[in-house]
Amino acid sequence: MALRKLVAGNWKMNGTRAALGEIAAIEAAAAGAAGIDVAICPPFTLIAAAGQQVSKVAIGGQDCHHAAKGAHTGCIAATMLADLGARYVIVGHSERRTDNGEDDAQVRAKAEAGIAAGLIAIVCVGETEGERDEGRAGSVVGAQLDGSVPPAATAAQLVVAYEPVWAIGTGRTPSLDDVAEMHALIRAKLLAILGQEGAGVRILYGGSVKPDNAAALMAIADVDGALVGGASLTAAQFAPIIEAAAGA
Ligand code: 13P
Repeated sequence: MALRKLVAGNWKMNGTRAALGEIAAIEAAAAGAAGIDVAICPPFTLIAAAGQQVSKVAIGGQDCHHAAKGAHTGCIAATMLADLGARYVIVGHSERRTDNGEDDAQVRAKAEAGIAAGLIAIVCVGETEGERDEGRAGSVVGAQLDGSVPPAATAAQLVVAYEPVWAIGTGRTPSLDDVAEMHALIRAKLLAILGQEGAGVRILYGGSVKPDNAAALMAIADVDGALVGGASLTAAQFAPIIEAAAGA
């Protein structure tokens, strides 16, 4: 089953108000892309202002706390993202798993908080280079999914992003065969966790997606879009990736 593709940009800790012009330019590029969804997840500080620049493009957060409110200095609740008009929240990105020591249970709690707030949770998984070299990529990603995917989620509430840690920001990507194998494994695991809802969950590939490899990646079965870091920061780089998804 071909699912509606989603191209999401993760700006990470990049962008001040000076970058709002790029959001407007990305909106202009996305407006012509029929039949796909496009999202940008800027830093929290830009979510409200970014929302003013878009109609076709949805805005998302890059993380949320698992609690709805409370004494958690410096944290952001999913309800706060929804209050600003965000539609998505990324949870379990490898940079948060590494930098902030987040484990699968925390990632699942965050995804559940996002869903409870009416957001679509983008749950990230992916193996390290060492794990792949040891032949453990599939088992590592499978275990991450078992621990991180909310078992009651519907297809409309959940997106999974497969981001091999060693492909993020490196210019390296797995072979197309390796991507196909992993996305098939993820689909099977989602069906096992979610039943038939798992057939409708979009599975994004992330890690050094660029204008020159986007079309080939998105032509792979069960690659239902992309989660893009560096190349989402400018409309010049992101627009061709949006076009590749629309043409796939
Ligand atoms: P790059 O596209 O910069 O490799 O980053 C991928 C990523 O981590 C998106 O979440």
